[in-house]
Amino acid sequence: MQQANLEGIFEDFMNKESVFINKDALSIRYKPENIPHRDVQISGVAKVLAPCLKLERPSNLFIYGKTGTGKTLVVQRVCRQLEVTALKKQAPLKVIYVNCKMKRVADTEYRLVAQLAREVGEEVPATGLPTDEVYKTFFNAIDDKKQIVILVLDEIDWLVHKSGDDVLYNLTRINQELENAKVCLIGISNDVTFTDGIDPRVKSSLGEEELVFPPYDALQIKDILSDRSRIAFAEGCINESVLSKCAAYAARDHGDARRALDLLRVAGELADRDGVDSVVEDYVDMAEDKIERDNIFEVVKHLPAQSQLVFYSGFLLQNGSDKPFFTGDLFDIYTKLCKKTGLKVLTQRRISDLIGELDMLGLFNARVISKGRYGRTRELRVGIGPTSMNKVRELLESQLGF
Ligand SMILES: Nc1ncnc2c1ncn2[C@@H]1O[C@H](COP(=O)(O)OP(=O)(O)O)[C@@H](O)[C@H]1O
Ligand SMILES: [Mg+2]
Repeated sequence: MQQANLEGIFEDFMNKESVFINKDALSIRYKPENIPHRDVQISGVAKVLAPCLKLERPSNLFIYGKTGTGKTLVVQRVCRQLEVTALKKQAPLKVIYVNCKMKRVADTEYRLVAQLAREVGEEVPATGLPTDEVYKTFFNAIDDKKQIVILVLDEIDWLVHKSGDDVLYNLTRINQELENAKVCLIGISNDVTFTDGIDPRVKSSLGEEELVFPPYDALQIKDILSDRSRIAFAEGCINESVLSKCAAYAARDHGDARRALDLLRVAGELADRDGVDSVVEDYVDMAEDKIERDNIFEVVKHLPAQSQLVFYSGFLLQNGSDKPFFTGDLFDIYTKLCKKTGLKVLTQRRISDLIGELDMLGLFNARVISKGRYGRTRELRVGIGPTSMNKVRELLESQLGF
């Protein structure tokens, strides 16, 4: 009997119609053939890099724009095509692409340079060598023949955030050390204010050429979605208004194509889960809720214990109402909870910093208010919606051991 049941479950699963025929077309891994609304940027990158086909060093290039504006996609596409053409023309070219945020490869200068050396086939231990030596290994490996090396550092803001700008300074001066090879640097940043804080020499060297990726507007995002949805969804399972809604939601904050693709994918998954045969607009709202919940959950889960405790204190103060509370109240509760959990009590000043960070993450909404001659204070509210509250509270309690 049980066997028959199990078989039935699998049968059902196999027979159940999905709204998708190729869900992968909505994933980040997927590289679309067609890249609408980025002609200017594609030809911009291509023009900067083209001299490498004549063995001339292209100018360094600095690319910036908010997340989901197609920077990674465009640079990878242009580089891939460049490799194909270089091969045909027998131009010696090597493209090295590193995403500084992935697998913590850029968390220290050592790690990044070791990774670069590995990309060109050298074996470097994960720790232990002097950093200079790792640089030398990398330099020697690329300098063993005449060639142009295009070094793409994606999410370069993360690199600088983690390990400072020394490594960039060293890399921008690399050509002075090389006899045969020439290196062109491409830096890609999601943070548009990234160059404000870095060494001016790095700034001017990296920014020999600059290219901006503006956010997409809702109509442009809809075009992107239309292309991808034709590949992803079965005939008749999706309609124009659903695409428009995803596009409008994604354009609301800033025109983020990744966000739009996520919304569309999750809407489809929720429709599948309900066993309906097409995605209607309501599923976009449900998808928006689900994504927001999942995001908050991930952020809270990875906070350090002290920040979790500060956030939890705010939770208790808010206690379902929408009245604001103040830093001082929060500090009182926080101190009591510290004693309960055995965590060290941080100074009020440090707690203020942590509150500032939570505000930046959107977990708190803070507003500075003046109290006239009594100075200023911060008015706080918990910044997450009621649907996420309970789940987040449970998470905090289990992680903090309450
Ligand atoms: N013009 C476009 N056409 C098709 N897909 C796009 C376009 N722009 C962005 N995308 C898709 O949106 C997502 C985010 O793009 P990505 O290049 O990673 O953005 P960024 O690097 O600027 O954060 C990717 O899945 C990408 O394939
Ligand atoms: Mg990117």
